Amino acid sequence: MSTLFKGISSLALTGETFGDVQIIENAALAVDGGKVVYAGPASKAPYCQEEIDLGGKSVIPGFVDSHSHLIFAGERSEEFASRITGKPYAAGGIRTTVRATRTASDEELKANAEKLIAEFHAAGITQFEIKSGYGLDVETELRSMKIAAELTQHTTFLGAHVVPEGVERADYIKSVTGEMLQAVGPYAKWIDVFCDQGAFSVEETKQILEAGIAAGLKPRLHANQIANLGVIPLAVELDCASVDHATHLSAEDIAVLSGSNTVVTLLPGAEFSTKSEYPDARRLASAGITLAIATDCNPGSSYTTSMPFCIAVAVREMGLTPEQALWAATRGGAKALRTEGGSLEVGESADFVVLDAPSHVFLSYRPGVQLVSQTYIAGRRVFERQ
Ligand code: NIG
Ligand code: FE
Repeated sequence: MSTLFKGISSLALTGETFGDVQIIENAALAVDGGKVVYAGPASKAPYCQEEIDLGGKSVIPGFVDSHSHLIFAGERSEEFASRITGKPYAAGGIRTTVRATRTASDEELKANAEKLIAEFHAAGITQFEIKSGYGLDVETELRSMKIAAELTQHTTFLGAHVVPEGVERADYIKSVTGEMLQAVGPYAKWIDVFCDQGAFSVEETKQILEAGIAAGLKPRLHANQIANLGVIPLAVELDCASVDHATHLSAEDIAVLSGSNTVVTLLPGAEFSTKSEYPDARRLASAGITLAIATDCNPGSSYTTSMPFCIAVAVREMGLTPEQALWAATRGGAKALRTEGGSLEVGESADFVVLDAPSHVFLSYRPGVQLVSQTYIAGRRVFERQ
């Protein structure tokens, strides 16, 4: 059945290149068989069997969250509170979540992730990536990856999050590049490493990513969040789909990234929650680097599922325009996952968000307000605000 969504005050269409957003006022969106068949002025809309009048709300493409850590147990609110009184964020906090995750059952881990996915839908997220990385032993990483694969096609093995307690560094890297990689390989599309102070060195990152690539996984990175260890040239050389965090970048790093296929993924929730310096996104954008915005949802450094919140912070604190931020959270996320989506071009999956606001600008203009009225995936409504 074809459906026409009409009464759209502003329809945001995202183009191929970073920041390219076209706004159509008095628009309509037609959906058939779960795909977009028309997105443009209401005056030219095709006949559809069913019509839904959105009464002046705006429509944007569904958000694509290219970076999340949904498989975990427990929470770290005490650690968060201690940062507000001055304790700096350190990679070692991850081990607290590892202890809780190892003792949780599969059912508990899956139920927690599903609860967060319901929050994603309420926040307008229609596609998302999930990482492992709170198991850090073969058994728990495998359980984590299996659950992730039941929930999304965008799965990432992050055995190299930190070296777990009680294991020799060399032995752990041997496992991540050997037994653990073999076990999780069938469930993972991507391999990720946290290359930073307190986590993994550039040499170790190279070894781990190369082992993942040899096993058929594609590389991506957490890097330069706490310090710049000099991994950016390697990330580009290995064709990482994305380098995430990227707060500390040299002029050379920026030059290398700007001529590459590697997206820089901003995680505004992480700097917000860890009380850290924000990356200068405007500088990255001016250098021609493709940017994505993701939630980084995890219990340690960014316990948010709200892409609108992340957009608001990226605009207010990182210097993006509302259009650049919208693009980064939709098409940018899709590019960071090297997948389709984040676009309402004809033929794309009808993944879109109805905002109870006149335009996408309100996402940052009205921070912290639940403006997502409805979320659709492949033309099917998965969330409606009560
Ligand atoms: O993306 N940077 C590394 N990993 C997570 C943090 C995980 C944690 O603190 O639990 C992140 O910020
Ligand atoms: Fe992360």
